[in-house]
Amino acid sequence: MKALITAGGRGTRLRPLTNTQNKHLLPIANKPILHYALGKVAQAGITQVGIITNQEGREVKDALGTGEKFGVFITYIPQDEPLGLAHAVKISQDFIGDESFIFYLGDNMVVGGLEKFIDTFHKNKDNCHLTLARVKDPERFGVPEIQGNRIISIEEKPRVPKSEFAVAGIYLYDSHIFEAVHAIKPSTRGELEISDAHQYLLDHGFQVGYSEITGWWKDTGKPQDILEANRLVLEHTAAQNLGTVDHRSTVTGNVVLESGASVVNSTVRGPAVIGRNTIIENSFIGPFTSIGHECVIKNSEIEFSIILNDCEIVDVSVRIEDSLLGTGTKVKRSQGRPRSNRFMVGDQSMIEIS
Ligand code: TTP
Repeated sequence: MKALITAGGRGTRLRPLTNTQNKHLLPIANKPILHYALGKVAQAGITQVGIITNQEGREVKDALGTGEKFGVFITYIPQDEPLGLAHAVKISQDFIGDESFIFYLGDNMVVGGLEKFIDTFHKNKDNCHLTLARVKDPERFGVPEIQGNRIISIEEKPRVPKSEFAVAGIYLYDSHIFEAVHAIKPSTRGELEISDAHQYLLDHGFQVGYSEITGWWKDTGKPQDILEANRLVLEHTAAQNLGTVDHRSTVTGNVVLESGASVVNSTVRGPAVIGRNTIIENSFIGPFTSIGHECVIKNSEIEFSIILNDCEIVDVSVRIEDSLLGTGTKVKRSQGRPRSNRFMVGDQSMIEIS
């Protein structure tokens, strides 16, 4: 069995962060999102991995290399334009050959291993095996209609959902999927939709089975999803101290201090992760916060946030919450008079002041 992981697309919902960075490399608990997908695939014993890349493919290649450090061999498959998930499958046919494969959307995060999905797919001799997650708002997703242990139809964003499940971004296929992705036509938004490929399989008598994802599953397409995924991962992260904490500081709960991180006269309340060589001084870091490498946080308070590498947050009198700060961002109290708020922010940034 092989694996195909997506790391292409546009990432428009995560602008401005994705103006300068591929969204799959944004950190969750200080690790690129894509590492989680690769880790799962490697853990399931799959060694041949294809990665779909977009125009910024070099960035992904630089981050993952040959795949050696994950115990896999990576083949990069460039997609010139984001023409849809079924298009990503279509251009991967040479890489996949006749084997069955797992198609994993690289911005999806799931708790637990993939083995149980792979075993059920093989045991049931399905042509296509979907993973389903029970959600409160199925109308936002592809929603299956289920009879027995078979899916009989799938509707994209239905007004009246026929089940409480969403089709998650982990799919298993045998080579019949290629017949489907060659047969379907682009949708009104100009993409080859994976739901249409699934519907093609159903319409042509192929067997489409499913497994339920019983732990949590997150599609990290939007800023709030990234913060939520960060919360969920930190909740399952064990404490580790490779940094220094002075005697005036309090560090409680599961906190990871990476090498060279230092906490001075501050309170860090986990779960949280503080990156390499980051300095936290006279500050409060609250639960569910990931601070990247080489940051300086002084006289400030941060909670439920992700701060990327090389940021400086100094003398900020209101608590920063629910926030995502891109690499090298500086937030400081202005000196001198007149006292005013000064901004130097990139396109499509979002600032809320109290
Ligand atoms: P989406 O989140 O649906 O699309 P996107 O990444 O372009 O984001 P946005 O809607 O914010 O512009 O994509 C799901 C996954 O599939 C993600 O890993 C990106 C990837 N993808 C491709 O690799 N190629 C494609 O043609 C598309 C549409 C998505």
